[in-house]
Amino acid sequence: MKTQVAIVGAGPAGLLLSHLLHLEGIDSVVVETRSRAEIEATIRAGVLEQGTVDLLAQSGVGERMKREGMLHEGIVLRFAGASHRIALAELTGRAITVYAQHEVIKDLVKARLDAGGKILFEAKDAALYDLDSATPKLRLYHQDSLVEIACEFVAGCDGFHGVSRPSIPSRLRHEFARTYPFGWFGILVEAPASTAELIYAHHERGFALVSTRSPQIQRLYFQCDPQDDAKNWPDARIWDELHARLAGTDGWKLAEGRIFQRGIIAMRSFVVEPMRHGRLFLAGDAAHIVPPTGAKGLNLAVNDVRVLAAGLRQYFKSRNEEGLKTYSATALKRVWRAEHFSWWMTSMLHRFHDDTPFQHRLQLAELEYVVSSEAKAMTLAENYVG
Ligand code: DHB
Repeated sequence: MKTQVAIVGAGPAGLLLSHLLHLEGIDSVVVETRSRAEIEATIRAGVLEQGTVDLLAQSGVGERMKREGMLHEGIVLRFAGASHRIALAELTGRAITVYAQHEVIKDLVKARLDAGGKILFEAKDAALYDLDSATPKLRLYHQDSLVEIACEFVAGCDGFHGVSRPSIPSRLRHEFARTYPFGWFGILVEAPASTAELIYAHHERGFALVSTRSPQIQRLYFQCDPQDDAKNWPDARIWDELHARLAGTDGWKLAEGRIFQRGIIAMRSFVVEPMRHGRLFLAGDAAHIVPPTGAKGLNLAVNDVRVLAAGLRQYFKSRNEEGLKTYSATALKRVWRAEHFSWWMTSMLHRFHDDTPFQHRLQLAELEYVVSSEAKAMTLAENYVG
């Protein structure tokens, strides 16, 4: 099999790249270890920056998102028992849209398949070859046959645990990492919305987040031990913990409902530099991870792919390699801004196991500053909307 760009991974990065390349008349093949049903059902994040929404809409895959996504013009910081609104739209002129990542995946898979795009699902043992030559290759098993894909470029969009990043010799990779001593317990609940805007809550029992998926389905998270087991959390214990962390003096109360999905998410910060090796370009989680607190992961993947698609377009139209040469540095600028923002939000809102009362008061002082100074609120807002 031959193509111009072989794309490893059918997550948001790989699928969107394939779609953007198709719009430019560039051929690609996407390979994915999981099945279509699996990738379309995996529960992940849900906050799209304005720039992400605009790119999806402009490239013709935003119709359902525009219809079903929920535009939010602010977020709420809740601490010391009271809520404070950060007016994202007033401060920045931009807003966010809540629309689940797996819905974006469904829209992109459909667009690719309707356009005759090739996605090899349930591919096994994919390996990358000859990345520093002009004719890189991908080999894998698909439907029990060995498939070789000869291409001009490989896009490594296969996430943190994928094969792409380790295909770069370790002496040529610089990795920066931090793991956090906590995770997020995430649930999906059948309940009406308790709040019009997302609530990020700081509490001495730990962080909690109230998000949404639809008028009938809510997404809630609370900080937990990353080694904990979801089995240790019967429904009543989950609700007690959420109510305790969201308690206030203003009478606001979270609505309960049937919990139909639950899981624990680990938290880390990670960046690899550079995001290119020869003819391999990394995009999305294959190159960087942010803790979820700033809702940046999916948006960073989309930004990588926007920059990479432009570089590949320039190359295939005019053999100009400038955009490909600057891809890593351009993408990393945005990555490091988001790394800092996500680390800052995480540090300000979570309970650390070695926290002293002094550190707890510093967090409250910073939160107080964010909600009382327009300059500081603007710092949060402009980073949050992207
Ligand atoms: C959601 C996830 C996030 O990481 C976040 O910061 C806000 C919302 C969500 O899944 O809805």
